[in-house]
Amino acid sequence: MVRVGAPSGKSRGKWEVQPFPDGGVDEAVERVRKLLAPELVGMNADRQQQIDEKLHEVDATERFSRIGGNTAYAVSIAAALLSATVHKKPLYQKLAGSSKVRISLPLGNVVGGGAHAKGKRTDIQEFLVVPTKASSAIQAAEANVKVHSEVAQLAVQQGATMIGKGDEGGYVLDMKTEQALDLISKACQTVSLETGADVRIGLDVAASSLWDEKQQAYIYKRDGKKRNEGEQIEFMLDLIERYRLVYVEDPLHEDAFEAFAELRKKAGGALICGDDLLVTNAARIDQAVKHGSANAIIIKTNQVGTLSDSRRAVEKAQAAGYVTVMSHRSGEVCSGELAQIAVGLSCPMIKCGVIGGERIAKLNELVRIEEDAEKRKILSGMAQIPS
Ligand code: PGA
Ligand code: ZN
Repeated sequence: MVRVGAPSGKSRGKWEVQPFPDGGVDEAVERVRKLLAPELVGMNADRQQQIDEKLHEVDATERFSRIGGNTAYAVSIAAALLSATVHKKPLYQKLAGSSKVRISLPLGNVVGGGAHAKGKRTDIQEFLVVPTKASSAIQAAEANVKVHSEVAQLAVQQGATMIGKGDEGGYVLDMKTEQALDLISKACQTVSLETGADVRIGLDVAASSLWDEKQQAYIYKRDGKKRNEGEQIEFMLDLIERYRLVYVEDPLHEDAFEAFAELRKKAGGALICGDDLLVTNAARIDQAVKHGSANAIIIKTNQVGTLSDSRRAVEKAQAAGYVTVMSHRSGEVCSGELAQIAVGLSCPMIKCGVIGGERIAKLNELVRIEEDAEKRKILSGMAQIPS
């Protein structure tokens, strides 16, 4: 009745669960047939918690090493989707229960570098945009696409070297960090004037891939800079101020809880978001809350395995006042469940790219959810973020 595929990441955090068992995808499929299927047949898909506990029980490891986090993801989400389908409800509504829903603001990358590109590229992995004042899902998606194409036009006008597109559809530019930000900033101004959507800039620094443990420094190859922890914090604060950044993901490496906290305290209202730092993991969220390390979190269900685990992470983070950002992976599937889960779990933002079929599948789904929620009279508009 339903079919669900799992995405897979390239710039994975070291604290994520193991995505596949040894032996890769083929072995994962084999283990579904041999170990999981006999246990799952006859279970009630309405009992999400029981299904997810069964996944942990059959796996019986700390990090889903036997069946793989991606296997757990596919089975767990498939159960949720099956239950919703049987009860003739959309998945987002099943997850939201009796609450009204808000449409998550789409955050998407217009320039890609770092681990998401090869050859000459920006040091920073993702230059993102978010239309903070979009009035509908379709207006939001359109505003982001306009910035994406404006970036290409400006780059051509400036005679910049454009190498193509990165893993998530952002242009790969042979530029220094600030050159790229100058260009994107111009593109955002043009599109904001035209649409009124107030498109603002965010970054995923993915700083673990810049961090050199031996040198205790962040190495920016393209920029020709080496920054120690203090300098990295200062650099981030400078970018936040000069480019009015609303969002900075993984500005420091994946174990830097205290440095994150120092930046968060000095960063005004900007969202300081943990991805590799928090890996959708409840214990790591506790640690971040204790230190005051962040005010936003990336939620990637396959970092932790099951829907119940990621709902727990969302609830814990939201209780601490964090903005939860439901996120795609660099390697994505061509379907839209991510948008259903983002809205269903009340995530104010969804990070799902701007262009490319597998990214547009999520944006289209967001538009359909908005139409559906309006019909059901459970829509309470677009989500808001501090900006
Ligand atoms: P991924 O990570 O390449 O592992 O999906 C993307 C990100 O860092 O947000
Ligand atoms: Zn990230």
